[in-house]
Amino acid sequence: MRQEILRLLRQAGDHYISGEEIAEGLGVSRTAVWKHIKELRRLGYDIVSQAHSGYRLEKAPDLLRPEEVAPLLKTETIGRHLLYQEETCSTNEDAKAAAAQGAPDGTVVLTEFQGTGHGRLSRGWFCPKGKGILFSVLLRPQRILPQDAPKYTLLAAVAVVRACRARGLEVGIKWPNDVLADGKKLVGILTEMSAEMERIHYIIIGIGINVNIEAAAFAPELRETATSLALLAGKPLDRRALLADILCEMERLTAGVQAQGFAPVLDEWRRLSLTLGQEVRVLGVNETFTGRAVDIDADGALLVDTGEGRRRVLAGDVSIRPAGARQER
Ligand code: BTN
Repeated sequence: MRQEILRLLRQAGDHYISGEEIAEGLGVSRTAVWKHIKELRRLGYDIVSQAHSGYRLEKAPDLLRPEEVAPLLKTETIGRHLLYQEETCSTNEDAKAAAAQGAPDGTVVLTEFQGTGHGRLSRGWFCPKGKGILFSVLLRPQRILPQDAPKYTLLAAVAVVRACRARGLEVGIKWPNDVLADGKKLVGILTEMSAEMERIHYIIIGIGINVNIEAAAFAPELRETATSLALLAGKPLDRRALLADILCEMERLTAGVQAQGFAPVLDEWRRLSLTLGQEVRVLGVNETFTGRAVDIDADGALLVDTGEGRRRVLAGDVSIRPAGARQER
């Protein structure tokens, strides 16, 4: 109902729309309309009212509330079921709980702030409230084997880069799934899965995007290695529109995977990669080595040519070593 009222207010634009008109249009009482308007105001919507004229939406809050995101979605599945909390511990944890309770394929869990957001390799993920896009997508892919699940992480990175590049933002992917600009990290992706040997129950793709974070808001130890899209663009970005575009790209790509497998995603990942062709240092589970990153294989593993032959890296961290420089990123 709230969403419908917002739709009518937005339709009216700069004009007022009366409580009576809204009530008639939606088949509810004027008292019900008034209660919803009160609730919308409580949520941060600036709705002005004028005697004998009605209501006008002055300003919507910069929030990723379903009322804001849903009208922008062009998808059929991803994001059609949106779960939102203004603050939570971790959207990946919430998505797992939702999955266990039977949430449908394509469910998206969203928040403005995470208390204990987690990243890869047991790291944390911090983002100031309302300044990023923090979300998890629940997928229940058909006919995909558990060993292919890590490739959804590559797919997510491709989706994010597509949406950023459509805004003229020059970003690329560092293996396996960090999105960077000017050598600094903008986006982190954490994919988790519940599966049996031959069947995936569900996959959770958790994505954290630094959108409207100012340089001074990054912790001092992150300033050299992290940045935000607003810093790159030189202006704040509309988080809702960006999120809607990313979900749309994810849906296109996941539909492509069901039809043709992962090969086209891997090809696009190669084209968007910042890692391939570079000298890299690989921090593996048990060892560290350097070499030239030459390709990813059909499993998404990074192939690195070292002095002693080719190495295949399935997990771990990679830093790119700029030519002639000592510093790595
Ligand atoms: C990384 O680069 O280490 C991955 C970071 C992933 C962070 C996102 S934010 C939304 C989702 N919820 C989490 O707890 N983590 C992911």
